[in-house]
Amino acid sequence: MINAKLPKIFYGGDYNPEQFYLETLEEDIEMLKQAGIDIATLGVFSWALMQPGEDTFDFAWLDTVIDRLYENGIYVCLATPTAVPPAWMVKKYPDILRVDFEGRQHKFGGRANACPHSPSYRRQSAQIATKLAERYCHHPAVLVWHISNEYSGACYCDKCERAFRVWLKDRYGSLDELNRAWNTRFWGHTFYDWDEIVVPNVLSEQWGDRATAFQGISLDYMRFMSDSLLACYRLERDAIRRHSHDIPITTNLMGTYKPLDYVRWAREMDIVSWDNYPAYDTPVSVTALRHDLMRGLKDGQPFMLMEQTPSQQNWQPYNALKRPGVMRLWSYQAVARGADTVMFFQLRRSIGACEKYHGAVIAHAGRTNTRVFREVAALGEELQRLGDALLDSRVESRVGILFDWDNWWAVEFSSGPSRDLQYLREVQKYYDAFYRHHVSVDMIHVDSDFSQYDVVVAPVLYMVKPGVARRLEDFVSAGGTFVTTFFSGLVNQNDLVIQGGYPGELRKLLGIWVEEIDALLPDMHNRFVVSSPAGAVEGEYRCGMLCDLLHSEGADIVAVYGHDFYKGMPAVTRNPFGKGHAWYVASSPEPSFLDDLAATILQRHDIRPPVAAPADVEVTVRRKGASSYTFLLNHGDVVHTVDLGDGTYKDLLGGGTVTGQVRVNPKDVWVLES
Ligand code: GLA
Ligand code: ZN
Repeated sequence: MINAKLPKIFYGGDYNPEQFYLETLEEDIEMLKQAGIDIATLGVFSWALMQPGEDTFDFAWLDTVIDRLYENGIYVCLATPTAVPPAWMVKKYPDILRVDFEGRQHKFGGRANACPHSPSYRRQSAQIATKLAERYCHHPAVLVWHISNEYSGACYCDKCERAFRVWLKDRYGSLDELNRAWNTRFWGHTFYDWDEIVVPNVLSEQWGDRATAFQGISLDYMRFMSDSLLACYRLERDAIRRHSHDIPITTNLMGTYKPLDYVRWAREMDIVSWDNYPAYDTPVSVTALRHDLMRGLKDGQPFMLMEQTPSQQNWQPYNALKRPGVMRLWSYQAVARGADTVMFFQLRRSIGACEKYHGAVIAHAGRTNTRVFREVAALGEELQRLGDALLDSRVESRVGILFDWDNWWAVEFSSGPSRDLQYLREVQKYYDAFYRHHVSVDMIHVDSDFSQYDVVVAPVLYMVKPGVARRLEDFVSAGGTFVTTFFSGLVNQNDLVIQGGYPGELRKLLGIWVEEIDALLPDMHNRFVVSSPAGAVEGEYRCGMLCDLLHSEGADIVAVYGHDFYKGMPAVTRNPFGKGHAWYVASSPEPSFLDDLAATILQRHDIRPPVAAPADVEVTVRRKGASSYTFLLNHGDVVHTVDLGDGTYKDLLGGGTVTGQVRVNPKDVWVLES
């Protein structure tokens, strides 16, 4: 349980009554109580008020807010305010400000704008965290600590440059090693002294997010920056931990956020929390993947949905309202995939600046008779009724999809073969295939224990880190099914190509040799022609983007190409290895191929969906002890019937028991206990 003081799904969100000079506090509290809100995130962005001068601190207003909330049964998720340093501080200590990718020195403004290597920022943020911890660690209202807010971005200042060199010394030990790792003999970029190394930005080696002359240095700068921001988090976390021993500490992550290696971050967090902001037209399976990714960071431990909007956002190009029922539906989607909280940004709408039109529980009208408020209150009542039933229950999966941030960076820094190659998009395609089968997937990382899965899928596993190929071999030998794709196995952790033939260290496991890689133009395609009964996959399927020209070195050829000068060469292979199989999909196929491939693999392992459901109905199961909780979420616009089979279920939301068929209304949710 996140905190035993509140043994239910936490329900609440960001609250900044100080932005209204506390004038609305009392009326807000009345309304929040009516909405069933039981937790408020306080303090995000409030540094300027907490510390109006170097030696002046003012927590009186925060005392009032916390006390008044607590007296009314509302707990607190207490944030450190360090996402925005106060203006006086930035003036006094200009080293706080970042220098951007273009080399421009920033001024005061925006947010998440502090240089992670600014001694002033580090000193001041540790100090304010300490002050908060000292003052509130024993306050009975505080359930969770929330460090800063959505760590993001990067800095390219001189301090970061110096710190980068130190980080590199630590990683490589010697310049010889570094020169080798970055292959600096290319273009005569050999370094003779550490201080010749400069940050990779538009003034040096890199000219865009995906464009660099030296993948090695750019990759290391991503790692270094992720570590640098993480060090800021750790500094505050440790400051709090010194005073507050048993309150969990988190920071709100952002799902598939490329710049930060959340696998490394999660190790430093007591609980993962994240902010879910799908656009109006984001496919539900994309949100599902993000939830699963966040759940996977701490190997399936329940996570916090820290933010979502009750209705619209302000920063999309078109900020559509969440249609009636959708806020509830998406809240349960998070819970269905492992969240133990449902929290909003924000509880009351601000009146000025860029977020004033962002959705909130309490709108500018300041009243409860709004559609959004009624929907929020109805969900509050429902979560109250669910009590502790779902808490700590786990999603169980027999399929794991590997996701790796270093690999993401390396794939997209690669100059060639195709600028259309996007790691996340390929991962999503494979995820979607299992999603469409209503089969649960864990998003796993290279250090995960593969042996707990029957199937491990690693789309575009371009970078194979030390030991991974060996562990995959063990996994397959023992009977597992491994699936990987084109552009896999090419490089080591430094983006240096493994000589001797692609896919490098995976070659033995896959039983193939990739001789060439063809990049197709956007309107070009090839075809997979299933040529062997080795798999149950049949027929012809369109494929494109990249086509590997490969030779079998023992693998069964499941499909061959249908066109071009490599017509007839293997396009999909399956290698028997020990007791298992290793599949290679040499091009990016149309979704129906992946549906059929997933079906073949699921059948081999006798993995079935928990219930047979139509496409629009998302199905997941959470388990705890002897109990199972089956979620049915109808994302569609028509009623769908789901056949529950023989079991008898307790209807946790509607009450009573159900058997046989249930009719799930559009946007409606069932949570069934058995
Ligand atoms: C993020 C932030 C919030 C707010 C919302 C708006 O998630 O953490 O402070 O800006 O976006 O959607
Ligand atoms: Zn910096």
